[in-house]
Amino acid sequence: MPEIHVVQRDNRRLYENYFDPYFRLRHDIYVKQRKWMALDRPDGREIDQFDTEDAVYLFCLDGGQLIGAMRALPTLMPTLMSDIFPYLSLRGPIRRPDVYELSRIFVIPERRGEHAGPRVEMLLLTAIMEYGISIGLTGFSIVLESWWLPRFERCGWRAHPLGLPQMIDGMSVLAVLVDCDETTWRSLCTQIGLTSPTLTWHGLTGVNRQILPDISLLHSPTVQPAR
Ligand code: COA
Repeated sequence: MPEIHVVQRDNRRLYENYFDPYFRLRHDIYVKQRKWMALDRPDGREIDQFDTEDAVYLFCLDGGQLIGAMRALPTLMPTLMSDIFPYLSLRGPIRRPDVYELSRIFVIPERRGEHAGPRVEMLLLTAIMEYGISIGLTGFSIVLESWWLPRFERCGWRAHPLGLPQMIDGMSVLAVLVDCDETTWRSLCTQIGLTSPTLTWHGLTGVNRQILPDISLLHSPTVQPAR
């Protein structure tokens, strides 16, 4: 089973060897395969202005190989929505301590659409929800292509549009705010057969977070009988 590691400022030194392959994979996937040429760089690494010390990465590792990843940015810092696509959010970009912006989710081509176990992409979507609850987030803002919406709907992610979709470089793109809550996390875990939290927090003992219990120990909300 692949492991999902939280990598951020405090433990980045432990994962230093993964960053070069990570940025090269991003270049292969976003520039060479998806042809997002604005991200092209002559050194073959896709790194942007948001890859700062404040960025949090989820690295999906299998047998020591990086097979997928996702990036989360605190919305109190510059984000894609605040600096590049502010017009996608009718009420202006979200800047809240309890909301992080997600971007750069990918799975390497040979591990996509797996059916033998939980799909790597579903693992990442479950893991980021676990991360959010653990550090007290209530939502994720995302600038995304609209084909994500039915996928979110199917897996139980509740995405609220912040504006109308716009055509950008031939893609239909919009901004959304996704609820981050325990109910969604629990439902995702059930869908992919996880019975306990999945994140690895190596070297992050100093991070203020809630330790989540096993799923089986969580109680469903009490339903009050109708009077
Ligand atoms: N455009 C439209 N639909 C897409 C798509 C794209 N670029 N990429 C994936 N999808 C949808 C399709 O419905 C696809 O079904 P299909 O195979 O019948 O066409 C479905 O997602 C399944 O995608 P698949 O690629 O088999 O993999 P997955 O579900 O395991 O992983 C991603 C999904 C997005 C993580 C993976 O496709 C990926 O890493 N893509 C490259 C990175 C990327 O574009 N990330 C999103 C922007 S940050």
